[in-house]
Amino acid sequence: MADTPRISFSPVTAAKPGGTLVVFCDDGLKFGRHASDALGAAAALVARAAKAEQFNGKSGSALQLIMPDGLKVDRLFVLGAGKIADLTSEDFVKLGGAAMGKLPKAGDATVVADLPAASKAKDGVKDGSKDAGMNAEQAADLALGMLLRSYAFDLYKTKRKADEKPAGKRSVTIATGDVAAARKAFVAREAVAGGVLMARDLVNEPPNVLFPEEFARRTLALKKAGCKVEILDMAALKKLGMGALLGVGQGSRRESRVAVMRWEGGKKGEAPLAFIGKGVCFDTGGISIKPAGGMEDMKGDMAGAACVVGLMQALASRKAKVNAVGVIGLVENMPDGNAQRPGDIVTSMSGQTIEIINTDAEGRLVLADVLWYTKEKYKPQFMVNLATLTGAIIVALGHEYAGLFSNNDELSERLTASGEATGELVWRMPLSATFDKMIDSKFADMKNTGGSRAGGSITAAQFLQRFVDKTPWAHLDIAGTGMDSRQSEINKSWASGWGVRLLDRLVAEYYEG
Ligand code: BES
Ligand code: MN
Ligand code: ZN
Repeated sequence: MADTPRISFSPVTAAKPGGTLVVFCDDGLKFGRHASDALGAAAALVARAAKAEQFNGKSGSALQLIMPDGLKVDRLFVLGAGKIADLTSEDFVKLGGAAMGKLPKAGDATVVADLPAASKAKDGVKDGSKDAGMNAEQAADLALGMLLRSYAFDLYKTKRKADEKPAGKRSVTIATGDVAAARKAFVAREAVAGGVLMARDLVNEPPNVLFPEEFARRTLALKKAGCKVEILDMAALKKLGMGALLGVGQGSRRESRVAVMRWEGGKKGEAPLAFIGKGVCFDTGGISIKPAGGMEDMKGDMAGAACVVGLMQALASRKAKVNAVGVIGLVENMPDGNAQRPGDIVTSMSGQTIEIINTDAEGRLVLADVLWYTKEKYKPQFMVNLATLTGAIIVALGHEYAGLFSNNDELSERLTASGEATGELVWRMPLSATFDKMIDSKFADMKNTGGSRAGGSITAAQFLQRFVDKTPWAHLDIAGTGMDSRQSEINKSWASGWGVRLLDRLVAEYYEG
């Protein structure tokens, strides 16, 4: 699916004849030593072209030269990096994405990982080789950005456009001053990129292909990376008493599933970190059916579950020193003669009863049982759940931030910091007794909506909180970020794979070793 390039690191030598060369400069049009070397005699030509094109080296700007005199390459791109001292690690990832966006569909490219005076960069890691203008971590960040940007989901396109050449395998050489260190830094990043792309694939897949059983089957691929995978089928779910989850799936011809993925890279016996995902493979709304316009987007209502799978894949393939468990609830929400009705009362695995007011508020019903199961079975250090839970969070936070709801300040602060470091931003929202009261029911222990649109994302979160007890817990409402989010330098696909990088960072930063 993803036409990912072969990425390698090499010392700075001449770019391959016939390919593409990419170099970076700052907003004073200054180059690092390696980039200057790569340009050689073409430097004067670049200076003239920059003037003619009013290229200023600002962040996001680019200059292209075809068949530049003095160089053997077919194409040269000079990308502006802006003010070097301001660059964060995330900026290098985006710079890599921008570079990838310039490359032709096939052929070789050389990217010179170099800038002037990058040692001043804010979160720049100390550099081994004194005169390298971009350190090994930053070179690896470029490579990560290139992998993320190279993704496209074209599995179901059978016809190539007339002007498109058959896409050969692309190969990218990143020229850097410290090859060994860059390769080493790239190992974990490559694992994380693999997880992100896996999540995007799952979200982009159509709902006739990716129904609950098939989604569960795909998690078995994680065994290869060293995860233990267990699939709970209908009989197992009934036996566990997951009446809330099963109620959502009962109007579908497709059976429901829960998949459990475990990675044990930490100390034996240490409580795991738990990640839980909403996996509604298609959400019609059920009997409280949704309007037709845009309903096709509800194939992405499993983005939370996809993120959990991608994260577990990333943790396992970079051999994270941590115990983690990923649990996803997989259902299809359909209207049918057997579908659940508004007014129905279901009994959740926790024993608490729920009056169904709106069958379109189904995600919380799925999560109620999966959260309870995870807490009881794995007694985790914390639970983080991801869910495309409410349209209301898009109204509140747009596509820029995911909503964060939590009973734990430390976990919230760590999530916020990890979000800032990776660009996958979260914004904390309130929980309180007054909102909790809104989901009390006349007939059962609770109802599945607050009864009004007011605070719709908050009442949904209050509902989830009734199934976590005292376990430190955070709920990320990713309805705005999981799919159809802002198109960025590192993603042009509908599915974003949002959350894999955020949670990988959370684990790496605070819970490993
Ligand atoms: N899956 C939707 C939420 C959603 C909306 C995700 C738009 C992505 C984009 C969820 O199941 C839902 O339908 N929520 C309802 C809740 C309401 C019935 C209380 C909503 O947001 O309208
Ligand atoms: Mn719904
Ligand atoms: Zn839904």
